[in-house]
Amino acid sequence: MADDRDVPFPYMRWAKRHLTGFTPSNLGMSGLASLTAAEFPSAPPAAYWAPEGPYGDPELRAALAAREGVPPDHVFVSAGASLANFLVYLAEARGGHVACEAPAYEALLRLPAAVSASCSTFRRDPARGWRIDPASLRTAVRPGTRLLVVTDLHNPTGVRLHADDLALLLAEAARVGAAVVVDEIYRELDTVVRPTVARTLDPRVIVTNSLTKCHGLGGLRIGWILATPDRIERVAEWNDLVCPAHPVPSIAIAKAYLREADARVARSRAEAAARGAQTDAWVRGRRDVSWTKPDGGITGFLRLPAGSDGTAFAEHALATQGVRVVPGAFFQAPDHVRISFGLREPDLVRALGALGAALDAWARR
Ligand SMILES: Cc1ncc(COP(=O)(O)O)c(C=O)c1O
Repeated sequence: MADDRDVPFPYMRWAKRHLTGFTPSNLGMSGLASLTAAEFPSAPPAAYWAPEGPYGDPELRAALAAREGVPPDHVFVSAGASLANFLVYLAEARGGHVACEAPAYEALLRLPAAVSASCSTFRRDPARGWRIDPASLRTAVRPGTRLLVVTDLHNPTGVRLHADDLALLLAEAARVGAAVVVDEIYRELDTVVRPTVARTLDPRVIVTNSLTKCHGLGGLRIGWILATPDRIERVAEWNDLVCPAHPVPSIAIAKAYLREADARVARSRAEAAARGAQTDAWVRGRRDVSWTKPDGGITGFLRLPAGSDGTAFAEHALATQGVRVVPGAFFQAPDHVRISFGLREPDLVRALGALGAALDAWARR
């Protein structure tokens, strides 16, 4: 696990080797289990290439705009949220400075180097339910900062972005002429149904998202960016260089899927909320670990007993109980592990039991 420190994105290197499937004792998978062709049959597209214009397939763009409640010219269709984030960093922050939350989904901290930008972090404070620490935000945002970056729901903790923290981010962005990126890849699994922040049409807001986490369609590689038309234009120009056409079969499936997305995600949200409550009860039943109960989604961030190294514990849990968790070091918090509770109910009971046994043995070591 300590290998690969020098690669561009260590977490993804690790995840591709270790998070290989929705097995019953895998508390590491970060998205909903993938939909199968049986669960969502779809007709193949008429052709495998179609003209799509500069901003992505026009019908898909319109469908995303309608569902998100923004004008179509505020939407760019991208090949997943990973590329969406990359394009936003490229278009907005190349050669500049980025201020990003910590703990963070590691890509958001690694992208600045890829676009020759510098990066500083601002703290999400565990003592305040992972709210943004205003002093560290003020220090991280400096002249030359182009982007302030957060996730909502927060990966890894699953907490909702507080309205006051969003206001603070926007005020700090205004101070230096920057934009605020909100990666909303988990938002639709918030237990409180709420729209994208892009719906405010605030010109400083840039939203990234995809069908990966809340919809179980990561294999389609369909994502999007919501921003003002001038920002969308710049993103589109960079996209010409890195992804000049999108996968037509995926576009066809995404368009069909979006017609039923609301009903499907409502079911997933209810299911995830039940699993979250089940996991919260397990956490509260123990004396050695703690967490802030996630506001939704399927992941939470577990603080280990004092002095624990999350990487060593993750190895111990796998070796002794066959249960997988993600070392907190990938989220800049080495005394934590991230656990995902998007398993079927009986599997989650067993996996948490195994995790508990691993913790008991950890205490005796
Ligand atoms: C916060 C966040 N953003 C983006 C991504 C990438 O998603 P996609 O599969 O759409 O590229 C992930 C995946 O783990 C994520 O957790």
